[in-house]
Amino acid sequence: MNICSIRGAITIEENTKENIVMNTENLLNEIIEKNNIEKQNIINIIFSSTKDITKAYPAIATRNIGITDCAIMCLQEMDVEESLKMCIRVMITVNSNIKKQNIKHIYLKDAKKLRPDISLAKSGFAVAIDGPAGSGKSTVSKIISKELSFIYVDTGAMFRTITLYCLQNNIDCSDETKVSKELENIDISLEFENGIQQIYLNNINVTEKIRTQEISKNASIIAQISSVREKLLKMQRKIAENSNVIMDGRDIGTNVLPNANVKIYLDADIDERTKRRCEELAMKNETFEYNKVRQGIIDRDNADKNRKIAPLKKADDSITINTTNLSIYEVSEMIIKIIKENIK
Ligand code: DC
Repeated sequence: MNICSIRGAITIEENTKENIVMNTENLLNEIIEKNNIEKQNIINIIFSSTKDITKAYPAIATRNIGITDCAIMCLQEMDVEESLKMCIRVMITVNSNIKKQNIKHIYLKDAKKLRPDISLAKSGFAVAIDGPAGSGKSTVSKIISKELSFIYVDTGAMFRTITLYCLQNNIDCSDETKVSKELENIDISLEFENGIQQIYLNNINVTEKIRTQEISKNASIIAQISSVREKLLKMQRKIAENSNVIMDGRDIGTNVLPNANVKIYLDADIDERTKRRCEELAMKNETFEYNKVRQGIIDRDNADKNRKIAPLKKADDSITINTTNLSIYEVSEMIIKIIKENIK
């Protein structure tokens, strides 16, 4: 037998003895049932509750449901500003053969917001982040996905990968017929390492290789081809079907995931976006001219906004954030807050 720890939390509606005990019983029963725990194998249980719960110890519920011979401890939590109110947390230590990866931690009612990664695992919660080049989409998406344990799907990388293939094989990126014919020879696959996307072109990892100025320029041309978009659209929707995703791109909220739970449109002034791109290029020791980078972004914006199929535009139900004067952490915090508010 192994020893494992199982976590859980629930919020209560009223600070009354009945409500505290009833909710704690429900939480304990759910943890026991979902993890197939034999009550006699429980070693100890630690409860904590927020300071606004004063009418009874949650621990009373343990005896009520027939757990009589384990050690129990009940603590009051620190009272942190803006933390979830009226919340009871529990940690159960148990002798069990359950493997760590199969443990089901249980978060109920408003406490689901504490662990959206667990609470939403079956439902496929989708966050669409659209916006022009340099608006901060990928940097912010990486931070959010790490924080919430969502996977981050960078759809721009898919267009870049097809572009790389064309450049490697001397195919003109604006030649719709030739590019379309080649698509059957282009296998794109994604893997997620700690939630972060690695992209493969015909089984070769090209995650770094697709980040050149030449590919940026040609990707917005490739992105105008309908057969390319169709191929990628299927892949993008499939990924979102089975996972909680943060997906960034140009048409995610409008076209790829029109029913996304949260839609964000990021924007920033052209000079701020140019500055960010220049900083990225400087970090990679690439040579660049400010004005050329600026013009390149304007040209890509124009191509992305004015193409016939799935152009870059704000979804009607999206929330716009102008990131010009905000740090990436401020933007990430804002979006995380919006996501948590939308998790039922
Ligand atoms: O975000 P990025 O710079 O990596 O995107 C590369 C190009 O791909 C960009 O010019 C527009 C295109 N794109 C698109 O048309 N639709 C998407 N969902 C994502 C990117």
